[in-house]
Amino acid sequence: MPIIFSKETGEFHLYNQDVSYIMQILKNGQIGSLYYGRRIRHREDFGHLLEGGISAGHPRSMSAYEEGDASFLSMQHTKQEYPCAGRGDFREPAFVLEAANENRIFDFRYESHEIFAGKKKLEGLPAVYTQDDGEAQTLEIALRDTLSGMRCILSYSIFRDFPAIARSVRFCNDGTERCILRRVMSASVDLPDSDYELLYLTGAWARERHVKNLKLEEGLHRIGSTRGSSSGEYNPFLALKRPGTDEMSGEVLGFSLIYSGNHLEQAEADTFGTARVQLGIHPAWFDWELAPGETFQSPEAVLVYTRDGLNGMSQTYHELYRTHLARGVWRDRERPLVINNWEATGAAFTEDKVLEIARRGKELGLELFVLDDGWFGERDDDTKGLGDWYVTNKEKLPGGIEGLSEKIHAMGMRFGLWFEPEMVNPDSDLYRAHPDWILYAPGHRPLLSRYQYVLDFSRREVRDYLYEKMETALSNASVDYVKWDMNRYLTECYSAAAPAGQQGQVMHRYVLGVYELYERLIGRFPNILFESCSAGGARFDPGMLYYAPQAWTSDDTDALERILIQYGTSYVYPLSMMAAHVSDVPNMQTGRVTPLSLRGNVAMFGMFGCEMDLNTLDEKECLLLKRQIAFVKRYRELVMKGKFYRLKSPFAGDEAAWMVVNDNQSEALVGYYLFPGSPNGSWRRIRLAGLSPEKEYTVSGREGRTFFGDELMNAGLLLGEEALIPQEGGCFSKIFVVSEKEN
Ligand code: GLA
Repeated sequence: MPIIFSKETGEFHLYNQDVSYIMQILKNGQIGSLYYGRRIRHREDFGHLLEGGISAGHPRSMSAYEEGDASFLSMQHTKQEYPCAGRGDFREPAFVLEAANENRIFDFRYESHEIFAGKKKLEGLPAVYTQDDGEAQTLEIALRDTLSGMRCILSYSIFRDFPAIARSVRFCNDGTERCILRRVMSASVDLPDSDYELLYLTGAWARERHVKNLKLEEGLHRIGSTRGSSSGEYNPFLALKRPGTDEMSGEVLGFSLIYSGNHLEQAEADTFGTARVQLGIHPAWFDWELAPGETFQSPEAVLVYTRDGLNGMSQTYHELYRTHLARGVWRDRERPLVINNWEATGAAFTEDKVLEIARRGKELGLELFVLDDGWFGERDDDTKGLGDWYVTNKEKLPGGIEGLSEKIHAMGMRFGLWFEPEMVNPDSDLYRAHPDWILYAPGHRPLLSRYQYVLDFSRREVRDYLYEKMETALSNASVDYVKWDMNRYLTECYSAAAPAGQQGQVMHRYVLGVYELYERLIGRFPNILFESCSAGGARFDPGMLYYAPQAWTSDDTDALERILIQYGTSYVYPLSMMAAHVSDVPNMQTGRVTPLSLRGNVAMFGMFGCEMDLNTLDEKECLLLKRQIAFVKRYRELVMKGKFYRLKSPFAGDEAAWMVVNDNQSEALVGYYLFPGSPNGSWRRIRLAGLSPEKEYTVSGREGRTFFGDELMNAGLLLGEEALIPQEGGCFSKIFVVSEKEN
C-alpha cells in the first residue's frame, strides 16, 4: 500500500490492491487530480491524464498559468484536489477564506509534503484509526499562500486492507493578520465524466434513512443539515454509481463524513461533462476566524471505491467503521440483549412496574434492563425536569438509582440509564439557576421544541456541570449502559459566552463540546456500553460511532417500517451499530398490528432488544419471544461481525431480503420479508450471496435436502407455497439458517 512520489513529474500515486488515487503538482502550484478509480499499474509519468489543462479549445476560459503562447492552464477545465474561489474555476470551491481586508482571493501553492506510516489522530474530532502503522500510509501536502502566510494541509490516508481513503484538511494561520474561513470542505473530488447516478439517504423522524436514487444531471445537487446535528433528514453520505450498477456489481464511489453536526454533501455536473463531489461542514452558520498562530482542523471524509456494487461499498464501510472507528471494550464484545421500559411506561413509571418488566425480561432471556426517560428531577412527562440529573422523587425510586440498579443486578441482569445531557426544560432547577446557559439570541424569545431548550455545549462550564452530574450518577450506582439522547434540533445558535466575531463558530464548537463530554465519560467509565440516540435516529452518523458503539436506529419500531429504515441504514452503517427492538402492537408510531414473528425477524438483524410491557404477552407469545431470544443469542456474533448483503430492496417492490455470512462461508442467516397486499402472488425466490459455490449447505426449513452454494446463489432459494399464504397482518417473513453440511 505504498504512496509513491515522483520528483521529476511532481506526481503522487496512492494505491493498494484495489484502488489508485493519482495527483500532480500543477504548473501553477495547485494540486491537480489525474485519476481515482480501480488500481492501475504504476508508471513514472501519468501527466497525460491531465485532460483539460491546455485550453486552446476552450476560448473564454481564464489563464491560471502561461508559458509562451501555446500553453496555458484553465482551472475551469482542470481536475483539482482542493479548488479555490474566484480564480477562473466557476464551479463550487472547496474553501472560501477571507483576509482582514475582505479579500477572498488566495493563491495556495505546493510547498512541501510528507509521507508517513499509519495515521494521525484528529484533535478533538472522531476519525478512523489504525491499530498498527502497517495498516495505512498517510500523505500530507502543505500548500502556502505566500501573501497572507496561510498554510493549507491536505491529508490523505490510504488503507492496506480496505479500498478506502480518508481525507481531511487543516488551515494554519502562519501569517500576521487574522483570516476568516467561510467554507471548508473535508474533501473535494473531481471526476472526468458525470455519467453517474446519485444515491443518498433521506427521511425524517420515524422514517430515517430511506434510499433515494437519481440521475446526476448538469447543475448542482446538494443535501445536508443545518439543524445542528447530522439529522434524520439527510445522512452525511453520498454515493455515485454508474448506470446499471446494482447491489452485486458495478462501479460505486462512496463519500461518508465522520461528523455529527451541520454537514453538506454535493455533486456538481458541469456543462463540460465533468463531475465534482464535495463534503464537509455546512457553510451556513459557519465562520471561523483564525488569528495568527491558530489552526482549524476539518472533520474527516472517507472515500470508498469499488467495482463490487453497492454491497461492495457498504461492506467496506461496515468493516472499516466497525473495526477502525468504533472503539472500546464493547467494539468487539457481544452486545447484551436489552429490555427498555420507554414504550411500556413512558416517563411516569413506578419502580414496581419497571421491576416487573425487568423480571419478565430476565425469565425470557434478556440481559440488560434500561431505565429510560423519567428517573430524574420532577420528570413525569416531557414538560419538566430535564437537566436535573439526580433523583428527587423518592416515591418513584425509593432507593434512588443505586437502589434500583442493585435490585436489577440481584436479578442477574445488567442495568442501563437514559440521559439527555444537551437539553433543559425551562421548568427545571438547572434552567432556573442558569437561564443564560442555553443557546438563545438576545432580545428574541428562544423557540421551544418538545418543551425544551438546547444547552450551550460550546461552553466549558456547561459541559463541566454535566460531567460532574453524570459522573456522580454513574459512579454512585452500578451502571452498565448509557443511552445518550438528543431530542431536538438547534435554533438561535448564539452563545452568550462567545465574543463578537466568534458567533459563527458556535455550531461547530457545540459538536466539539459533545465529543469532548463523550470522551471524558468514556475515559472515566470504559466498561459502560454507550448507545447514542436522537429522537430515534436523528444523529445516526459515523462521528457518533467513535464514542458509542451502537445507536438507536429509529423511534419507529413498526416492523414493516423498520425493514425500510434498517435497509437504508445498512448502506453505510454496520449491524453492530443498529439497535433494533421488538415492541408492542398496535405499534406506538403507526398503529399497525404486525405478528411477533415478523417483529423478531426484523429486530434480529440489528442489536436486538425489546421495548414493551412483557407482562402483557400471552403464553404463546412468551414462548415465541423466548425462542427468538435464544436464537438471537446463538447467532449474535454472526450478525454483529458477519458480512452483510442486501438481496432484495423494499424500496423497489413488495418484498425485502438480506443476509449475513461468516468469514469462512460456513454459516449464514437469511431474512426474507413480504409486505402485505400481494394476494395470489407470484412465486418468490431469493438468490443468496457470499457463500462458497463449492460448499454443500443445509437450509433450515428445507430438511432432507442439501444445496451447493452455486445453486443457492444462482438458481436461488425457492420460497414456494408458504409465501403465498399470508400470516397474521397480511405479511410473511422467514429466517433461514444456511449451514455448511457436516461430513
Ligand atoms: C426519544 C428516544 C426514545 C425515548 C424518548 C424518551 O424519543 O428516541 O427512545 O428515549 O426520547 O423521552
